[in-house]
Amino acid sequence: MVIRNICCIGAGYVGGPTMAVIAYKCSDIKVTVVDVDETRIKAWNDEDISNIPIYEPGLEDIVAEARGRNLFFSTDVEKAIDEAEMIFISVNTPTKTYGLGKGKAADLKYIELCARQIASVAKTDKIVVEKSTLPVRTAEAIKSILDNTGNGVKFQILSNPEFLAEGTAVQDLLNPDRVLIGGEADEDGYVAISALVDVYANWVNREKILTTNVWSSELSKLTANAFLAQRVSSINAMSELCEQTGADVNEVAKAIGMDSRIGSKFLKASVGFGGSCFQKDILNLVYIAKSYGLNEVADYWEQVIKMNDHQKRRFASNIVKTLYNTVSGKKIVFLGWAFKKDTNDTRESAAIYVADDLLNEEANIAVYDPKVSEQKVLADLNYLGTRSSEVNEERVIVSEDPYEACKDAYAVAVLTEWDEFKTYDWRRIYDNMKKPAFVFDGRNILDGEELRRIGFVFKSVGV
Ligand code: NAD
Ligand code: UGA
Repeated sequence: MVIRNICCIGAGYVGGPTMAVIAYKCSDIKVTVVDVDETRIKAWNDEDISNIPIYEPGLEDIVAEARGRNLFFSTDVEKAIDEAEMIFISVNTPTKTYGLGKGKAADLKYIELCARQIASVAKTDKIVVEKSTLPVRTAEAIKSILDNTGNGVKFQILSNPEFLAEGTAVQDLLNPDRVLIGGEADEDGYVAISALVDVYANWVNREKILTTNVWSSELSKLTANAFLAQRVSSINAMSELCEQTGADVNEVAKAIGMDSRIGSKFLKASVGFGGSCFQKDILNLVYIAKSYGLNEVADYWEQVIKMNDHQKRRFASNIVKTLYNTVSGKKIVFLGWAFKKDTNDTRESAAIYVADDLLNEEANIAVYDPKVSEQKVLADLNYLGTRSSEVNEERVIVSEDPYEACKDAYAVAVLTEWDEFKTYDWRRIYDNMKKPAFVFDGRNILDGEELRRIGFVFKSVGV
């Protein structure tokens, strides 16, 4: 079976870049990305390519090449479903904020809506691909909806989780470590699997395309994120011990990372991991384990989240302690608000929680992030509901100029590892700050020795 027409429901951080790369690499496949969010679709279609809604290095060029040729963004979900042979579901699957499983389980209402819409619209057989990250055995629920509410057409369900990381999405998509496809082990299943394998094989070496059963594929995605997040929590746990003992976490990470069994990646101590997925996926894993009565398994993974919460809180309380136990009325600068560099995504960013703690201590906060707007920063803080939006607006300013932000500040805190922070004129920043001038490097990216020479009191994580 040769695929000529793909539809993707969800034009977000995964759907947008993933479909852009499929269209870019497969010029004979028409790819239509649909979303209910009109503003987002409008931005994807903006004539000025720099206005596309997601910032990822390299993405503008890919979209510019494919858009209008075989890549289309639209709000007409039904038409796109009707025309496609293969439909990717790439909608959000956030943590439930209500009812059973509140605070842990994945909220699958958007997935269910997609399944019902596909079933009601489809007049020809379809391959439905789970691209969103889903609890293991979700395909069973999707199949039940499709088979019971459809028009008698046949559906095949594949699991094809996405492993891209934000900030490196385009590179990850162009050159993935592996592509994972789970499907049913029968004749129709094999046909569907091989149709999707053939799409990826346009640019990915077939040896890197792994096929499994649906449940292994669904669970591998949660497992991969849990393992990655666990490395960050493990090194962050060591960072606190380093601070007490005179060991240096950067040296420890290097020393253990050179053991090829451990590996050197994902061992950067930090203010804590953020992003839309690690926390939600581990909580989801914890919920699944608990629902099978596997309490020890659940507790084991939950500890990764507890350690991460502790690391964020510890960073904020270190600032308060170092500034003579009070930050009330003091201006603290946040360099970075995004959850990592090279993205405009702020979901679950550590910066939000550190700011919230410092605002509780009555600090004034000035934020500078090269890709995050004032509106977004305030929306992130308002979402927590800790205080009124008026108070947040009074106490938080967002600056477009880092030097302006640092003027008359008592302390600068680095929350995101943007490369440009390393190139600043730190002498100029020092001269315009209150003394003693403090720098808290939550990402261990600045040259501490140089900053101390300038006169800063410099603190980093795990040193
Ligand atoms: P996102 O919130 O950026 O995008 C989801 C989009 O789906 C939104 O624009 C929303 O309007 C749209 N949507 C929701 N319901 C819809 C419906 N019924 N019809 C049409 N559109 C609908 O989310 P994301 O970051 O792209 O994540 C999507 C999924 O991919 C999640 O399950 C996530 O866990 C997973 N994932 C994310 C990443 C990442 O780095 N962000 C990486 C791998 C996997
Ligand atoms: C992560 C995974 O890396 C992707 O493989 C996965 O597809 C994705 O989740 C997902 O399912 O959403 P992402 O969250 O975009 O990708 O970014 P990461 O590079 O994993 O960073 C996550 C957080 O951990 C960031 O806040 C980052 O700063 C932090 N981190 C990462 C550290 O503090 N130290 C490290 O060594 C690595």
